[in-house]
Amino acid sequence: MCGIIGYIGEEDAVPIIIEGLKKLEYRGYDSAGIAVYTENGFDVLKQKGRLSGLEEKLSGGFPQSHQGIGHTRWATHGEPSDINSHPHLGTDSKIAIVHNGIIENYKQLKEYLESKGVVFASQTDSEVIAQLAEYYYEGDIMDTVCKVSSRLEGSYALGIMCSDDPNTLIAVKKDNPLIIGISEHGNLIASDVPALLKHTNKVYYLDDNEIAVLKSDSINFFDFDMDEVDKTLETITWSMDSAEKGGYPHFMLKEIMEQPKVLRDTINSMMTDTENNRILEEIDIRKFDKIIITACGSAYNAGVVSKYVFEELCRFPLIEVELASEFRYKNSVINDKTLVILVSQSGETADTIAAMREAKSKGAVTLSIVNVIGSTIAKESDYTIFTAAGPEIAVATTKAFSAQLVLLYFLAVRFSKKLGRLDEALYEKLEQEIVSLPDKATEVLEHIDFIQKYASNSVAYKSVFFIGRNIDYAIALEGSLKLKEISYIHSEAYAGGELKHGTIALIDGENTLVVGIACCKRLFPKTLSNIEQVLSRGANVLFVSNIEQVTTDEKTSKITIPDIYDLFSPSLSVIALQLFSYYVAANRGCDIDKPRNLAKSVTVE
Ligand code: F6R
Repeated sequence: MCGIIGYIGEEDAVPIIIEGLKKLEYRGYDSAGIAVYTENGFDVLKQKGRLSGLEEKLSGGFPQSHQGIGHTRWATHGEPSDINSHPHLGTDSKIAIVHNGIIENYKQLKEYLESKGVVFASQTDSEVIAQLAEYYYEGDIMDTVCKVSSRLEGSYALGIMCSDDPNTLIAVKKDNPLIIGISEHGNLIASDVPALLKHTNKVYYLDDNEIAVLKSDSINFFDFDMDEVDKTLETITWSMDSAEKGGYPHFMLKEIMEQPKVLRDTINSMMTDTENNRILEEIDIRKFDKIIITACGSAYNAGVVSKYVFEELCRFPLIEVELASEFRYKNSVINDKTLVILVSQSGETADTIAAMREAKSKGAVTLSIVNVIGSTIAKESDYTIFTAAGPEIAVATTKAFSAQLVLLYFLAVRFSKKLGRLDEALYEKLEQEIVSLPDKATEVLEHIDFIQKYASNSVAYKSVFFIGRNIDYAIALEGSLKLKEISYIHSEAYAGGELKHGTIALIDGENTLVVGIACCKRLFPKTLSNIEQVLSRGANVLFVSNIEQVTTDEKTSKITIPDIYDLFSPSLSVIALQLFSYYVAANRGCDIDKPRNLAKSVTVE
């Protein structure tokens, strides 16, 4: 949550910072701000609300500068307001900072500084960093940064400028991502790669407790003891286009449509001679007696789907799926015979990071499935395999979720083979079924016109229920999450068999839509009778199914998806559900790429 960016170099910093913030806005959009250094000191502009508000303010005039920092905020401490926006300055306007993270001991630090006469302007935890820095500052900004860092508890990625040292931009990282980009015209810091792609694909990933000192033509790295640190320059393979809308009205639609390619790329990443494949080969599943899959939100839903796949294919005695936010505080029974699988697009989700650290501290082996190279989870887990989704900008995940599913299928199939549960023929067949997914995903996307039309008639529902059994129930969870988070329509997912135990009371005639997912062939008659039960209580029904028997009438509509091995069908049904949610939200005029109250990378608890 929150995105930070900074620039020092030959060009005007202002457009570089604003363009960068546009690429980071998915991390929070409660307010935005910029500070640049000029010969008169710092010029700061901040604006509550979307970045477009700040841009409007900037058009009224703002100085050019070769050095500046910017911020886009997801509010944690202090309401969204101009004053609580970043950058924050100390009282003497000597030091300006932008911060992503949470300072857990800010109250103590604030009280201490107030007792020394410091007057705070905002309600944020972040201001304490600027004030503390000015309090300690005695002419040496590096010394100050080290002192401040030693006092801060919590998480922080910081961009810092000091008016006495105008040719220096400082970055500090602890538990929140920070990337340093090196370009031909200057150097940059940013919370995420897309903000840098226009200028460079050469980056350093800052590690925890490291400081980067950027000049326009040099970068040096230090630890908190001021010892110099050697770092490796990495090359990003994501293209600049991948972080642009490319003619689509929203990133979400672009990302939905990209899924055949993402599936293909991710499948290719599991073929022989790839790093993912090599890593998976290294893991001897026979050493483990328990698998725990842990993640948050949609990534957790991918875990729920995969539990069905693992159970069916691996016949492994103990497979659990846990919400990372629960797992981290649960004192689970785990040891060195436990394989903990972490699933995360960003690799920076605070709860998933904590779950990983908890698992490691108890001796478990950790395997992560991550999209962002260089992220904390990717770096800290024992084994990491990467989804090939490219940058995902829309807050609601689509393509990264699909890529996670595919890697989880591969894991289940490969583990199953290692466990001796699959003969060669079945193994080959299952892998071929996975390989067929991209083409079949393209077929699902061909339903776009029908789904768009159906969704345009679905905007007024008070509630939408997603039901299914087995693997269809698992993907119903994701369908429901997608709808509620971008369209704000109340929705729930239920296992079909559970309806009659209470939920069916919520079926309120034709005010209710039930989306029935029926791709698990052996359970189709059961799901069908659950659907009959809601139809007879007046609900409207949208079927997502690969089974021909479903007949449609004025209350029942159907999206037919291609047939595939049952356990892999969620990869196809989810695309129909994503499109449905997208068009319902679009017809309701929602801000699809940036749903209210959300941010993409949830780096706070
Ligand atoms: C929902 C969504 C979130 C994320 C969750 C985990 O559309 O995107 O629920 O799945 O915040 O994020 P990552 O995968 O980055 O750990």
